Parts: sequence; C-alpha cells; structure tokens
Amino acid sequence: MKNQTAFIFDLDGVIVDTAKFHFLAWQKLANKIGIDFSEKENEQLKGVSRIKSLEKILSWGKKSLSDEEFQRLMDEKNQDYLNHVHQMTKADILPGVEDFLEELKSKNHPIALGSASKNAKTILKCVGLSNTFEAIIDGNKVTKAKPDPEVFLKAARLLNTEPQNCFVFEDSIAGIKAANAGGMTSIGIGNKDTLHEAAFCFNNFNEFDYQFFKTIKTQA
Ligand code: BG6
Ligand code: MG
Repeated sequence: MKNQTAFIFDLDGVIVDTAKFHFLAWQKLANKIGIDFSEKENEQLKGVSRIKSLEKILSWGKKSLSDEEFQRLMDEKNQDYLNHVHQMTKADILPGVEDFLEELKSKNHPIALGSASKNAKTILKCVGLSNTFEAIIDGNKVTKAKPDPEVFLKAARLLNTEPQNCFVFEDSIAGIKAANAGGMTSIGIGNKDTLHEAAFCFNNFNEFDYQFFKTIKTQA
C-alpha cells in the first residue's frame, strides 16, 4: 500500500471554478473600504487562507482594523461568497475533471482533497462530489496555510502513502510551493508563466490523460 501512486487535488480553481467567486467577493469588500483590487492582486490570494487574504488586502491598502471589524469583514466576505457557491451544480465542475477522477478510481488509486477552504465540504455537496474522495483535508484541519506543505502531508498520511508517490494538482503559486516543499510532484493547472515552479503545467484536465502519469512513473 505504501508505494501506491496517489493523487491529491486542490479544490478552488482545480475541481470547480470558485476562484472567480472569491475574486468577486474580495473585490466588493476591498472596494467598499477604499482599496483597489484587480486580477493582479487576486492572483496572490489564490490558495491563501481567508484570514491571510484579508491581512494582505489591508496591507496593500495600508489600513488596519480592530479585531471585531476584521472578523466582521471576513464574515461578510464569506456570506457574499457562499451566495455564489449555493448556486453551483454538477455543471460547475471544470472540464475533464470528473472523467479523470473516475479513471483514477477505476484503477484503484487513492485520491484526496487538499484545500485551504473552510467551505470545502459545502462546495463538494453542491456539485455532487461528497463521496468522491477517500480523504479530505480542508481549512478546518490545518494549522499552517499553504505554502506550508501541512495540508498535503496530512492527506498523504491519510491515504497511507509516501509523499514521493503523490501527484498534487494546484492552480495557485502557494499551492505549488506547498506540494514541492512536501516532496510531491506538482501539477499546475493554469498559466505556465504564473505557475513556473510546477513540475508540469497544463491549462486544464483535457490536456492530459491517465497515460501521462504512467509515463512519468516509468521515467522516474
Ligand atoms: C483557497 C482559495 O482554496 O481557499 C482562496 O484559493 C481562499 O482564495 C481559501 O481564500 C480559503 O477559502 P474559504 O472558503 O475558507 O474562505
Ligand atoms: Mg486553488
């Protein structure tokens, strides 16, 4: 079991396109408190926890808040974000993801979710993937945020496999760094220039297939 090749998936921006909802909710909040927020800033928040995200936004705008106000704004952002999430259905799963997950399951590979989100289980339920993953490590189960590898190392442990046997799918710079720091093979999903630290990078799940991972294994 220990040598089995395992696959760990980030959620936001890899399985579902919730990255656009995070963007809309943070932009609305930042603008409300007088801070500019564009796609450029948003890129730096991908994979970053809710608390760290608001800290970064405030530091860009050189603003500080009381603890109560900080908590209130985080809750407001999350409520706004969840209003988008609750509209999601199976149709919001990104192209090629479901087929790939099915193929991995049919080949008996252990698969886990490794996400910074505290809303991960809600999202999986909305899109009908609640029973897909053997292990789920989300924002409620980690003490250190990506780029720390804790989330992926915990997932590998639950899958009962070693880090070097794991492939990690990630759309964020922080997540790629986390996978690399954990000694796993990082697969970037998104822009090659942005995710240049990834071992391999694809625009989406239709650009590769299961066979690709067999090739890497034989080369190793
Ligand atoms: C990550 C997202 O998956 O989860 C980040 O890429 C987000 O943008 C983080 O801030 C935390 O999510 P949540 O749902 O707990 O606010
Ligand atoms: Mg992500």
